Amino acid sequence: MATALIILAAGQGTRMNSDLPKVLHSLGGVPLLAHALQSGAAAEPERLIVVTGHGGEAVAAAAHALNPDIEIVHQEEQLGTGHAVAAAAPRLEGFEGDVLVLYGDTPFIRPETITRMQAARRGGHDIVVLGFNAREPGRYGRLVMNGDQLERIVEARDATAEERAISLCNSGVLIADASVLMPLLERLEPYNSSGEYYLTDVVALAREAGHKAGVVICDEAETLGINTREELARAESLFQQEKRRAAAENGITLIAPETVFFAIDTVIGRDALIEPHVVFGPGVTVESGARIRAFSHLEGCHVSRGAVVGPYARLRPGAELAEDVRVGNFVEIKNARIEEGAKVNHLSYVGDARVGEAANIGAGTITCNYDGVMKHHTDIGARAFIGSDTMLVAPVKVGDGAMTATGSVITEDVPAEALAIARARQEVKPGLAKKLFARLRALKAKAGGGSAKG
Ligand code: UD1
Ligand code: CA
Repeated sequence: MATALIILAAGQGTRMNSDLPKVLHSLGGVPLLAHALQSGAAAEPERLIVVTGHGGEAVAAAAHALNPDIEIVHQEEQLGTGHAVAAAAPRLEGFEGDVLVLYGDTPFIRPETITRMQAARRGGHDIVVLGFNAREPGRYGRLVMNGDQLERIVEARDATAEERAISLCNSGVLIADASVLMPLLERLEPYNSSGEYYLTDVVALAREAGHKAGVVICDEAETLGINTREELARAESLFQQEKRRAAAENGITLIAPETVFFAIDTVIGRDALIEPHVVFGPGVTVESGARIRAFSHLEGCHVSRGAVVGPYARLRPGAELAEDVRVGNFVEIKNARIEEGAKVNHLSYVGDARVGEAANIGAGTITCNYDGVMKHHTDIGARAFIGSDTMLVAPVKVGDGAMTATGSVITEDVPAEALAIARARQEVKPGLAKKLFARLRALKAKAGGGSAKG
């Protein structure tokens, strides 16, 4: 069945005490919003709608960066969850299928949970609400059941003492037949203690109209919503714990798991070895058997089988390391393909470049890729030998099997198998050092009588 995903992300998140809209705060290297999208992806939605409010433009831009197909609906005033979904409703006129509602600040809903909700929908419920048994039900909405039917949801502040004693609570996640939900949204009224349009009221309205409503129960941990920086930090810690656990389960060796940080989409092959203090930003894949040595930082890059990275390496977006490549200490690679068996072992910057197979890049090599306005490409051929401290002023090409002399500033292409030397020729003046020292010491003595050893 077709599904439209609606993510509610209009809230200000006042308690974050931040200029950044709440759903743009980062968890696992990506905005909270990306986590909600990932949860929703389990339903294979064919429509994606994000309801924005506070910081709407920034949220819209971030949403489009995650997926250009996302439709943005701006909710000018935040008059409640029902009002938010109603704001998206005009976009879904004529849509046939399910509507799935998620919150942008609730990152841990598991894909399996969404799948179970879909199964409950197919099982005959027109509306399925995701519930959980709360340790402290507090201000959560309570699910009022009648057998396996959900009769209504009552917000804590509107509940009787008897209803408040219910521990089965509303997570806020809901999936419903669009043809049932849409007409009910128009009938929501803000007659309650907070004067808001409650999405939760659609359940009682649906029951009155003879529809069926059911509940799927998940673990409370999945429903964790982020409201404060403290909660965000706790969520990050939970997220990382889960990633480390999953990494070990997938056959990855983490020597000091608690010091390794993953992003939402980090993919690492079996038998890869990750040393202590490694940070994976978004968009990293590491193949089986690669080794990431201590204190390395990787994002938007690919590391192939048998490659060794670090210690102290930085791989930035677009770094592609082929099999058996070596990238050593204090090396930065950006937007560059390092082909099979090539080595960049020490203190180098390789950006906007290709390094051919089995090439050797000497210590202190820099691709001077930026002229202050534009970026330029450096192409280094197979088996080339780049001498230490070579500056490659891009755009420039070094052919297969060519060599550059140590300390060269290469501004012109070097043909295959040629040697390029681009540095001042050394002159040796016999005895001149001794004379120079004597003169300098004499000058110093004359000036202040200080110690000649200084
Ligand atoms: C809501 C539920 C409650 C549930 C709880 C779970 C209602 C009426 N109540 O309460 O039953 O137990 O979530 O956390 O639905 N939002 C908008 N626009 C609005 C209002 C809210 O986009 O006009 C978004 C918020 O940014 C937030 C989410 O909807 O992400 C939930 O809103 P919030 O005000 O936090 O609802 P609760 O009072 O927590
Ligand atoms: Ca909330």
